[in-house]
Amino acid sequence: MSRPETHFHLDHLPPIDQFFIDEANNATYPWPSVDYEPGVPITTLDKSGNVKNHGVPISTPACTQQGVSVEGARHTRTSRTISQTSSFIKTKFAQDLQANLGRIKPKYLYNPPRSLYDWHQDLGGHKCCVNFLLTDTPGARTIHKFPTDCRLNFQVDVVEYNLYYPLLFNARIDHCVINMTDQHRYILHIPLFDVSYDVAKEYLVNYTSDSNRYL
Ligand SMILES: [Fe+2]
Repeated sequence: MSRPETHFHLDHLPPIDQFFIDEANNATYPWPSVDYEPGVPITTLDKSGNVKNHGVPISTPACTQQGVSVEGARHTRTSRTISQTSSFIKTKFAQDLQANLGRIKPKYLYNPPRSLYDWHQDLGGHKCCVNFLLTDTPGARTIHKFPTDCRLNFQVDVVEYNLYYPLLFNARIDHCVINMTDQHRYILHIPLFDVSYDVAKEYLVNYTSDSNRYL
Protein backbone atom coordinates (compact mmCIF):
# COMPACT_ATOMS: atom_id res chain seq x y z
CA MET A 1 0.00 0.00 0.00
CA SER A 2 1.36 3.42 -0.91
CA ARG A 3 2.05 5.97 1.78
CA PRO A 4 0.04 9.21 1.84
CA GLU A 5 1.90 12.39 0.92
CA THR A 6 3.34 14.16 3.98
CA HIS A 7 4.05 17.60 2.52
CA PHE A 8 4.22 19.62 -0.69
CA HIS A 9 6.49 22.60 -1.43
CA LEU A 10 4.79 25.80 -2.54
CA ASP A 11 7.88 27.51 -3.92
CA HIS A 12 5.87 29.28 -6.63
CA LEU A 13 4.55 31.53 -3.84
CA PRO A 14 6.59 34.43 -2.39
CA PRO A 15 8.92 34.02 0.59
CA ILE A 16 7.64 35.40 3.88
CA ASP A 17 8.09 39.14 4.54
CA GLN A 18 10.67 40.26 7.08
CA PHE A 19 7.82 41.86 9.05
CA PHE A 20 6.47 38.45 10.08
CA ILE A 21 9.90 37.11 10.97
CA ASP A 22 10.34 40.08 13.28
CA GLU A 23 6.83 39.62 14.67
CA ALA A 24 7.60 35.98 15.47
CA ASN A 25 10.93 36.88 17.08
CA ASN A 26 9.40 39.61 19.22
CA ALA A 27 6.28 37.73 20.33
CA THR A 28 5.80 36.45 23.85
CA TYR A 29 5.07 32.74 23.98
CA PRO A 30 3.00 31.46 26.90
CA TRP A 31 3.97 27.93 27.81
CA PRO A 32 1.40 25.16 28.00
CA SER A 33 -0.13 24.49 31.38
CA VAL A 34 1.77 22.20 33.74
CA ASP A 35 1.13 18.49 33.16
CA TYR A 36 3.59 17.07 35.67
CA GLU A 37 4.98 18.27 38.96
CA PRO A 38 8.64 19.23 38.50
CA GLY A 39 10.99 16.89 40.35
CA VAL A 40 8.41 14.12 40.81
CA PRO A 41 9.13 11.01 38.69
CA ILE A 42 6.59 10.18 35.98
CA THR A 43 5.57 6.55 36.27
CA THR A 44 3.04 4.32 34.57
CA LEU A 45 2.13 0.66 34.83
CA ASP A 46 2.80 -1.68 31.94
CA LYS A 47 0.46 -4.53 30.89
CA SER A 48 2.00 -6.80 33.52
CA GLY A 49 1.50 -4.27 36.28
CA ASN A 50 5.19 -3.37 36.49
CA VAL A 51 6.10 0.23 37.19
CA LYS A 52 7.67 1.98 34.21
CA ASN A 53 9.73 5.07 35.06
CA HIS A 54 9.73 7.80 32.40
CA GLY A 55 12.07 10.21 34.18
CA VAL A 56 11.84 13.30 36.31
CA PRO A 57 10.13 16.33 34.71
CA ILE A 58 12.25 19.45 34.41
CA SER A 59 10.55 22.69 35.36
CA THR A 60 10.19 25.15 32.47
CA PRO A 61 9.90 28.93 32.67
CA ALA A 62 6.41 30.35 32.56
CA CYS A 63 7.04 32.32 29.39
CA THR A 64 9.67 33.10 26.81
CA GLN A 65 10.31 36.11 24.66
CA GLN A 66 13.09 35.78 22.10
CA GLY A 67 14.10 32.79 24.12
CA VAL A 68 14.60 34.81 27.29
CA SER A 69 12.69 33.71 30.34
CA VAL A 70 10.22 36.29 31.49
CA GLU A 71 7.49 36.27 34.08
CA GLY A 72 4.04 35.52 32.78
CA ALA A 73 1.08 33.23 33.01
CA ARG A 74 1.01 29.82 31.38
CA HIS A 75 -1.84 29.51 28.97
CA THR A 76 -4.90 27.55 29.97
CA ARG A 77 -5.89 26.20 26.55
CA THR A 78 -5.87 22.48 25.95
CA SER A 79 -3.30 22.98 23.17
CA ARG A 80 0.16 21.74 23.99
CA THR A 81 1.90 24.00 21.50
CA ILE A 82 3.99 27.00 22.45
CA SER A 83 2.39 29.55 20.19
CA GLN A 84 1.32 33.11 19.65
CA THR A 85 -1.19 34.74 17.28
CA SER A 86 0.08 36.22 14.00
CA SER A 87 -1.19 39.26 12.14
CA PHE A 88 -0.74 37.34 8.87
CA ILE A 89 -4.56 37.00 8.79
CA LYS A 90 -4.68 40.54 7.34
CA THR A 91 -2.78 39.65 4.16
CA LYS A 92 -4.46 39.13 0.80
CA PHE A 93 -3.17 35.55 0.70
CA ALA A 94 -4.80 34.77 4.04
CA GLN A 95 -8.04 36.41 2.93
CA ASP A 96 -7.99 34.37 -0.30
CA LEU A 97 -7.46 31.19 1.72
CA GLN A 98 -10.44 32.04 3.91
CA ALA A 99 -12.66 32.91 0.95
CA ASN A 100 -11.84 29.69 -0.93
CA LEU A 101 -10.89 27.09 1.69
CA GLY A 102 -12.74 28.22 4.82
CA ARG A 103 -11.55 29.00 8.31
CA ILE A 104 -7.86 29.56 9.10
CA LYS A 105 -6.01 30.76 12.19
CA PRO A 106 -2.42 31.86 11.54
CA LYS A 107 -0.09 31.63 14.50
CA TYR A 108 3.59 31.28 15.31
CA LEU A 109 4.88 28.04 16.79
CA TYR A 110 8.04 28.02 18.87
CA ASN A 111 10.53 25.18 19.38
CA PRO A 112 13.12 26.01 22.06
CA PRO A 113 16.79 25.13 21.53
CA ARG A 114 17.58 21.41 22.01
CA SER A 115 13.96 20.36 22.32
CA LEU A 116 11.66 17.62 21.10
CA TYR A 117 8.02 18.25 20.28
CA ASP A 118 6.81 14.71 20.73
CA TRP A 119 4.96 12.46 18.30
CA HIS A 120 1.42 13.67 17.65
CA GLN A 121 -1.18 14.49 15.04
CA ASP A 122 -2.64 18.00 14.96
CA LEU A 123 -6.02 17.49 16.54
CA GLY A 124 -7.05 21.14 16.65
CA GLY A 125 -9.75 20.40 14.11
CA HIS A 126 -7.59 20.67 11.00
CA LYS A 127 -6.18 18.00 8.70
CA CYS A 128 -3.59 20.13 6.96
CA CYS A 129 -1.81 23.44 7.27
CA VAL A 130 0.47 25.83 5.42
CA ASN A 131 3.75 26.34 7.25
CA PHE A 132 6.58 28.83 6.67
CA LEU A 133 9.95 28.15 8.34
CA LEU A 134 11.09 31.50 9.74
CA THR A 135 14.48 30.63 11.20
CA ASP A 136 17.61 29.17 9.65
CA THR A 137 17.94 26.10 11.85
CA PRO A 138 19.23 23.32 9.57
CA GLY A 139 19.86 21.05 12.55
CA ALA A 140 16.15 20.92 13.27
CA ARG A 141 14.04 18.15 11.79
CA THR A 142 10.33 17.60 11.25
CA ILE A 143 9.60 13.92 10.73
CA HIS A 144 6.48 11.94 9.81
CA LYS A 145 6.35 8.26 10.73
CA PHE A 146 4.48 5.29 9.29
CA PRO A 147 3.85 2.07 11.19
CA THR A 148 5.14 -1.19 9.78
CA ASP A 149 4.19 -4.76 10.64
CA CYS A 150 6.91 -4.69 13.29
CA ARG A 151 5.72 -2.72 16.31
CA LEU A 152 8.91 -0.88 17.20
CA ASN A 153 9.97 -0.17 13.62
CA PHE A 154 8.60 2.71 11.59
CA GLN A 155 9.30 4.18 8.20
CA VAL A 156 10.01 7.89 8.33
CA ASP A 157 9.75 10.84 5.98
CA VAL A 158 11.70 14.04 6.68
CA VAL A 159 10.16 17.41 5.84
CA GLU A 160 12.85 19.51 4.18
CA TYR A 161 11.63 23.07 4.59
CA ASN A 162 12.84 25.72 2.18
CA LEU A 163 13.66 28.63 4.44
CA TYR A 164 11.01 31.39 4.30
CA TYR A 165 8.89 29.57 1.66
CA PRO A 166 5.48 28.00 2.33
CA LEU A 167 4.79 24.30 2.42
CA LEU A 168 1.55 22.34 2.65
CA PHE A 169 1.79 19.92 5.57
CA ASN A 170 -0.25 16.79 6.24
CA ALA A 171 -1.15 17.09 9.92
CA ARG A 172 -3.02 13.78 10.24
CA ILE A 173 0.03 11.55 10.05
CA ASP A 174 2.07 11.09 13.23
CA HIS A 175 4.89 13.63 13.27
CA CYS A 176 7.38 15.25 15.61
CA VAL A 177 9.83 18.16 15.62
CA ILE A 178 13.35 17.83 16.96
CA ASN A 179 15.34 21.03 17.34
CA MET A 180 18.88 19.77 17.84
CA THR A 181 20.34 23.25 17.41
CA ASP A 182 21.10 25.89 20.04
CA GLN A 183 18.87 28.30 18.08
CA HIS A 184 15.26 29.31 18.68
CA ARG A 185 13.04 27.93 15.94
CA TYR A 186 9.82 29.59 14.79
CA ILE A 187 7.36 28.73 12.07
CA LEU A 188 4.31 30.55 10.81
CA HIS A 189 1.56 27.94 11.00
CA ILE A 190 -1.73 28.37 9.15
CA PRO A 191 -4.17 25.55 9.96
CA LEU A 192 -6.90 25.01 7.36
CA PHE A 193 -9.95 23.83 9.31
CA ASP A 194 -12.46 23.05 6.60
CA VAL A 195 -10.62 21.18 3.84
CA SER A 196 -8.63 18.01 3.30
CA TYR A 197 -4.96 17.96 2.32
CA ASP A 198 -5.87 17.06 -1.28
CA VAL A 199 -8.42 19.85 -1.66
CA ALA A 200 -5.98 22.39 -0.20
CA LYS A 201 -3.22 21.17 -2.53
CA GLU A 202 -5.44 21.47 -5.60
CA TYR A 203 -6.20 25.08 -4.71
CA LEU A 204 -2.67 26.06 -3.71
CA VAL A 205 -0.81 24.63 -6.72
CA ASN A 206 -3.06 26.74 -8.93
CA TYR A 207 -2.81 29.86 -6.75
CA THR A 208 -0.90 32.65 -8.40
CA SER A 209 0.30 35.87 -6.86
CA ASP A 210 1.15 38.96 -8.87
CA SER A 211 3.36 40.18 -6.06
CA ASN A 212 6.61 38.85 -4.58
CA ARG A 213 5.46 39.62 -1.06
CA TYR A 214 2.44 39.16 1.21
CA LEU A 215 2.16 42.62 2.75
FE1 LIG B 1 1.95 19.13 14.55
